[in-house]
Amino acid sequence: MATMGAKTKAVWYCTSCGNESSKWMGRCPACGEWNTMVEKTLDTGVKRARDTASGSVRKPQRLKDIQSLDEPRVSLGNAEVDRILGGGIVPGSLVLIGGEPGIGKSTLSLQIPLGCPDLKTLYVTGEESVKQVKMRADRLGGDASECLIYSETCIENVLEEAEAVQPQLMIVDSVQTMYIGAVDSTPGSVTQIKEVAATLLRFAKESGVAVILIGHITKDGYIAGPKILEHIVDVVLQFEGENRGSYRILRSIKNRFGSTAELAVFEMTGAGLRAVLNPSELLVPMHEQGLSGTAIAAMLDGTRSFLFEVQALVSSAVYGTAQRSATGYDVRRLNMLLAVLEKRAGFHLSAKDVFLNMAGGLRVTDPACDLAVICAVLSSNFDFAIPSDVCFAGEVGLSGEIRPVGQTDRRINEAARLGFSRIFVSAFSSLEQKTPEGIRIIKVADVPALVKNLFK
Ligand code: TYD
Ligand code: MG
Repeated sequence: MATMGAKTKAVWYCTSCGNESSKWMGRCPACGEWNTMVEKTLDTGVKRARDTASGSVRKPQRLKDIQSLDEPRVSLGNAEVDRILGGGIVPGSLVLIGGEPGIGKSTLSLQIPLGCPDLKTLYVTGEESVKQVKMRADRLGGDASECLIYSETCIENVLEEAEAVQPQLMIVDSVQTMYIGAVDSTPGSVTQIKEVAATLLRFAKESGVAVILIGHITKDGYIAGPKILEHIVDVVLQFEGENRGSYRILRSIKNRFGSTAELAVFEMTGAGLRAVLNPSELLVPMHEQGLSGTAIAAMLDGTRSFLFEVQALVSSAVYGTAQRSATGYDVRRLNMLLAVLEKRAGFHLSAKDVFLNMAGGLRVTDPACDLAVICAVLSSNFDFAIPSDVCFAGEVGLSGEIRPVGQTDRRINEAARLGFSRIFVSAFSSLEQKTPEGIRIIKVADVPALVKNLFK
């Protein structure tokens, strides 16, 4: 009979990309690097894991006997970041802030201790010198008397200092620059990133220090680490936005201690990131009447609803094939909507160039914006301005039908609050509330009905 004792098995793995193989190879077949395969022994035996703290084995417990505990939370002094985290940071948790280079991750992380002087913070910088951090802090303003800046990239050293300092919060900027001396691989490689994150998670859990880890992701979505990191960490906050534009969206995409339907809008100013508490008021321009090619969409993102402007420019194609381009919007979705307009409503747009832009450098995925997109396109095509007191919330289907969207009531409320007097929604929307004062809800079932109502 087979025994249940520990068995070991040797595998080879690539120190550059983490690829595993059962035999040694000179060149890793996954990443193409030479001489990166090293041997690792895997323990395949079935052994009982022991609780690290008490050394005893864990037993199943009855659900009703387990005491629930309210996670204590520490405020980071930044109302928007606290809200996204679910009411402050949980001690002993590991939070990843991901985003493209230059989007504002370091700025936001430094603003936390600057805005919360009593929070004992250890800011580990692997990218900038302490002088550079100081210059940035001077620019951002604020007072961080309890904040220590530490320029270091070796995690063993970082943890040693952290043990000595006992901070409430540790910020590590960035995971790509950190390395563990015991792991034979270059900083920024997948192996190092995984190990650094796992080590920091263990440190956070054992010491109760909340850790914010910064990670870069590249524009083409190439896994520079954070994708695999998402499985390791407790919370993932993602920074989004066009680098050219000044608006940034911070979105929670994973949260073991709260909802992921949270989002905050920031504006990058000369003095750092400023929370935009009322996004609609910035994104809906108050230009004069009579500008064609714009339509206002009532969008919902996370638990936030806000209105913003969709801009379209339709012109006769100069070259043989028409150009389609979209900023902040999926160009395939734009093509689909144009096809619907052509096929289901008889508008001839195939020989036209169509350019689409979302105001403020926003990136929009909410299907409720479809209606505003087709209205902006038609408005530009006919050079017919849509009155500035009208907004839209509806999805457009392949047969030209206008479909209801989630939480239409909330969108209507936001539109009414901002003083819009008409909102177009799907005829199939089921509204639960009384229509708010001052706004008229116009229900349309399909694209022809919309056109008849709007452009008559
Ligand atoms: P940064 O936080 O360094 O980005 P990341 O850490 O995500 O790579 O932000 C970089 C950009 O922000 C840089 O282009 C300069 C700009 N910025 C401001 O506009 N205002 C400021 O007060 C600061 C600190 C940066
Ligand atoms: Mg940075």
